[in-house]
Amino acid sequence: MLGIAAGLPPAALSLAYLAAAVLFIHGLRQLTHPRTARRGNIFSAAGMVVAVGVTVLWFEILSPVVLFAGLLVGAAIGSWLAVTVDTTDMPQLVGLFNGFGGGASALVAGAELIDLFGPSGPTVAPVETATAAAATGLIGGVTFWGSLVAAGKLQGYVEDPVHYPGENPLKAAFFVLAVLAGVALVTQIEISVLSAATWVPSYWVLVAAASILGILLVVPIGGADMPVVIALLNACSGLAAAATGFALDNSVLIVAGTLVGASGLILTFIMCESMNRTLTNVLFGGYSDDGSSGDVADIYTGNVMSTSPEEVAMLLDVARRVVIVPGYGMAVGQAQHAVAELAALLEANDVEVIFGIHPVAGRMPGHMNVLLAEANVPYEQMAELEAVNPTFSQTDVVIVTGANDVVNPSALSETSSPIAGMPVLHVWDAQTVIVNKRSLSPGYAGIPNPLFTYDNTYMLFGDAREAMQALVTEYKDTHR
Ligand code: TAP
Repeated sequence: MLGIAAGLPPAALSLAYLAAAVLFIHGLRQLTHPRTARRGNIFSAAGMVVAVGVTVLWFEILSPVVLFAGLLVGAAIGSWLAVTVDTTDMPQLVGLFNGFGGGASALVAGAELIDLFGPSGPTVAPVETATAAAATGLIGGVTFWGSLVAAGKLQGYVEDPVHYPGENPLKAAFFVLAVLAGVALVTQIEISVLSAATWVPSYWVLVAAASILGILLVVPIGGADMPVVIALLNACSGLAAAATGFALDNSVLIVAGTLVGASGLILTFIMCESMNRTLTNVLFGGYSDDGSSGDVADIYTGNVMSTSPEEVAMLLDVARRVVIVPGYGMAVGQAQHAVAELAALLEANDVEVIFGIHPVAGRMPGHMNVLLAEANVPYEQMAELEAVNPTFSQTDVVIVTGANDVVNPSALSETSSPIAGMPVLHVWDAQTVIVNKRSLSPGYAGIPNPLFTYDNTYMLFGDAREAMQALVTEYKDTHR
């Protein structure tokens, strides 16, 4: 024990870490519901403040001035990013955060090895420390570079997807190289026959192999599989932190990392289920374009009916039940307030209004829920896919705004489609479907959508916000 906390009993550190862990778990619990999520964030952040603050004061790793300056710079960059980022670019930011978490863990484990086995360190070291460091280097390297590639893809900097010759054997080769470097690291320490200086290089060989593996793993993955990758890398960043906790013998890092790892893995499997993909298939099968996006004109020519806000307002005038299905375009157009206003107007005229939310609508988990909550849409009005699908047949009008892949019926009918088997919203079961988007362009998966050609579908072309505002105006006019 060093520094300011020198006068305190050792149990004080454990107690403070326990308090931080309780705050993390309580925060996570609150994050399971949109209503309490904001509070959950505050509890978790408070836990992190306790954990970091106590660690800094207790161990006095660096001078308080340097630490405070570092915290200040980090907080300033984080706040600037959080305030300026567009909600549509949030997944890239999350990807970068995951990557920095993994990279930081790999660096901290490396620093611990240098510290332990450097000139002033012992010549024999605990096997468990080396094993934990090896696990950190492997997961951290994959997470850092994999996340950078994932963020670059989402930002459009990296081609999507990139295939290369001998994909799976190459990935296997770098994985084996990383594992061998890890074994070398651990066994050198265990038998302690080599000089201390040889231990650290094998760690960096491991990190280099893991970094290349991270790039090789993510570049061939694309399109509809990207949410799963982001969630998995999130889990990896947590596991890397937990492994660092073992290397440093730091309990709060183990708890925090394990919580992130476990929740990230749960999210990964929920995402896989939502997209009907297995994790192995996502990582090693790759997403392939079936080339059908090139046939767009053939599918749509002469088969698409368009409509206007006036006509849709007339339909709404006689509707008793309306389902609104938002998608990525609602986020791009920032149309959530106009959509919420339309819903409120309809309800004021005794129309039942439900929002049908697909779990991967938009570009991040919960994207639509967050935007609609921002526009004060009550949580009770948002129905998940399983709840809303059986009700479309009793629905007069469905308004799809800025969604495409999540309402694509080819997921059910075309086994060769890249989204084959993905659960989708069965909007076509409703009496009339209005699809609002700017053109007939494909969505994220890059494939045409036969829904646009259905007999009960009418396209309301235009930007989501302008179209929804026009609907509000027209509907008000019909009720004046
Ligand atoms: P998409 O299939 O991506 O379709 C969005 C549609 O919105 C596009 O066809 C686009 O057509 C339209 N659009 C764009 N800007 C618009 C605007 N200003 N006004 C009106 N329309 C606009 O979206 P989705 O149905 O929400 O499906 C999500 C897709 O993203 C899925 O394939 C999913 O796998 C993938 N994905 C999801 C996540 C998560 S976790 N949610 C993360 C990454 C990827 P126009 O250009 O013709 O307007």
